[in-house]
Amino acid sequence: MEQSILDTEEPEHTLKKSLSALDLTVFGVGVVIGTGIFVLTGKIAKEQAGPAVALAFVVAGVVCALAALCYAEFASTVPVAGSAYTFSYASLGELPAWIIGWDLILELALGCAVVAVGWSGYMRELLGSGGWALPTILSGTHEGRFGFDLLACILVLVLTGILVLGMKLSSRVTAVVVGIKVTVVLLVIIAGAFMITGANYHPFIPPSRPSAAGGGLSAPLAELMFGFTPTTFGVMGIFAAAAVVFFAFIGFDIVATAAEETRNPQRDVPRGILGSLAICTVLYVAVSIVVTGMEKYSKLSTDAPLADAFKVLGHPFFADVISFGAAVGLTSVCMILLLGQSRVFFAMSRDGLLPRVFSRAHPRYGTPYRSTIALGVVVAIASGFTSIDVLAELVNIGTLFAFVVVAVGVIILRRSRPDLPRAFRTPWVPVVPVLSVLASVWLMLNLPAETWVRFGIWMVVGFVIYFLYGRSHSRLGLRNRRPTED
Ligand code: ALA
Repeated sequence: MEQSILDTEEPEHTLKKSLSALDLTVFGVGVVIGTGIFVLTGKIAKEQAGPAVALAFVVAGVVCALAALCYAEFASTVPVAGSAYTFSYASLGELPAWIIGWDLILELALGCAVVAVGWSGYMRELLGSGGWALPTILSGTHEGRFGFDLLACILVLVLTGILVLGMKLSSRVTAVVVGIKVTVVLLVIIAGAFMITGANYHPFIPPSRPSAAGGGLSAPLAELMFGFTPTTFGVMGIFAAAAVVFFAFIGFDIVATAAEETRNPQRDVPRGILGSLAICTVLYVAVSIVVTGMEKYSKLSTDAPLADAFKVLGHPFFADVISFGAAVGLTSVCMILLLGQSRVFFAMSRDGLLPRVFSRAHPRYGTPYRSTIALGVVVAIASGFTSIDVLAELVNIGTLFAFVVVAVGVIILRRSRPDLPRAFRTPWVPVVPVLSVLASVWLMLNLPAETWVRFGIWMVVGFVIYFLYGRSHSRLGLRNRRPTED
């Protein structure tokens, strides 16, 4: 553990320490509010939970709050770039750390690709109202018809350039973008509150019905395991919905990935994590209550539900403002996911699990430019070919798995290193970490069985890479072997 903190002090591999608690909270809110609330709310209300989608947000928020309490302790104990990856390296060892790092690639890089595709949808809508339409072949894949998503791809490449130029610039841009996004969300809540029709809330929890897709691998694993007939809506529908809208919370943990670039990580990282999570939970519940009150859940749009609800009620101006804010807001989500990913990649490379060339900081900008560019190009290509829904579920299962490892890590570290100073201590250990594990696993079980299969394949590929490259190149492994070799 001490070694991983020392490594961050080598001049060639050092990042600039320039962020405050407010910067971190802005980062958190900047990445957390995105496709989840702007796009998934309508889809999930319509297909899985009805107005009870608000309860699904509460369930997902509770799962995240438990995980956040564990993340905050880890981040304040080991303030090194790399989030759950670094924490598990310090406490659980190299293989679990590799697993987590590999898993974070799923969360951050694929999450970024998904958000870029969502952004591109809003942009095309805005361009469309200005009378500007892209050819279908450059508008992405829709309903099985292939198309390259040109706008998503361009967005990722431009953001990569901004990140290479340095944190300072990108956090300033982020602050403006986050302001616009939060204003639009508040606009939806306040203006929309005057347009609610009480009848739209009946029934609040629609009765369960057999799922249209039938059984098979598309049903939640929990339903298959316990032998239930696959259903949608009803009480079980709320949990299945929570497992998907969980995507809306992804990102609060990324605040921890910037720990190494924070002036006072011991104090500011826990504040940044818990602060951004609290703000977002309140906004999500409010937005979903308002939107399902404005329009009957069964009629909500699945592409742009927030804007569409205003359009349907005869307020096209509001609808355009919301579409614009969503497009701007999704930009910041995309950028911070990319930032978090490049930092995890940087940390993995610094540890030798990935080639070391990726962890040279830029001599002038002080940013890990090689990992940022490498990842940016891969994500740009992925976003050109990505379809949103399946990948969002894959991103969720990967993130929930990381939550499990972090919670277990808190318990292990309390036992193995009780002496370490902890600026933030998770309350009621081991009760809170154990609850966090149970809650995360429960949400994972509510994801479709096919998502588990895809996740399994991803992890197997990770193991192969680790045993063929990482194990023999890691600094830890080399350091341990050196005395006998010399
Ligand atoms: N939480 C982020 C979103 O909803 C990833 O887009």
